[in-house]
Amino acid sequence: MNEATTQPQRRVRIAPSILTADFGRLAEQARAAEAGGADLFHLDIMDGQFVPQLSFGTEVVAAIRAATSIPIEAHIMVQRPQEHFESLARAGARTLVFHEEADGHVLRSIEAIHALGCAAGIAISPDTPVERAEELLDAVDEVVIMLVYPGRGGQEMLAQHLDKVRRLRAALQSSSRTVTIEVDGGVKAHNIAQCAAAGVDQVVAGSAIYNPNETPQQALAALRTALAAGAR
Ligand code: DX5
Ligand code: ZN
Repeated sequence: MNEATTQPQRRVRIAPSILTADFGRLAEQARAAEAGGADLFHLDIMDGQFVPQLSFGTEVVAAIRAATSIPIEAHIMVQRPQEHFESLARAGARTLVFHEEADGHVLRSIEAIHALGCAAGIAISPDTPVERAEELLDAVDEVVIMLVYPGRGGQEMLAQHLDKVRRLRAALQSSSRTVTIEVDGGVKAHNIAQCAAAGVDQVVAGSAIYNPNETPQQALAALRTALAAGAR
């Protein structure tokens, strides 16, 4: 029996990351993903310190909020994430995901996010053991397993870290809590079914959706087809 048949079927949500979108046509690009059936947006905030790159801040979150109506999660890759929770919530992010490896007190940050009325997510980078996330399952609403080193779109998936998803899924089976498990990095049509079989609820897809070869609608359709084929 292969892994796909041993896991319960769940509808995997697809969260486009706009890092490789055309920022000159951002609203149009976001609407194209929404029209293509994207479940939520995953917006990558980078400060040039926690990760070497700069991306964008609250204004882009607000612009996507104004252009579309599906939920937004902010993936906060900055050194002191707690300084940005309030402005990101105000800009329209419904879920705030910060890194376990960033400065600050994790439980206090989760409380601060909940006090803003947002869902709280914890992300772990590839070198961080899964136990760091596992011990937070009672406190968080979402765990993001990074399948690339955070910093930029278009990298190859480090599929060995799907073991962390299997471990969290098993831990959640004996818990009454609902915690979203998401993977981020390198998700493509050829490996999305592997992520589903490992037990994810949600995948981030950046360059799989925003690339020069197809429209976001075509790309989302290809990801859905690959998921359906993997579920058979
Ligand atoms: C990487 C970001 C990812 C990335 C995903 O630091 O967190 O969300 O943009 O892009 P792809 O799907 O191209 O790896
Ligand atoms: Zn991300």
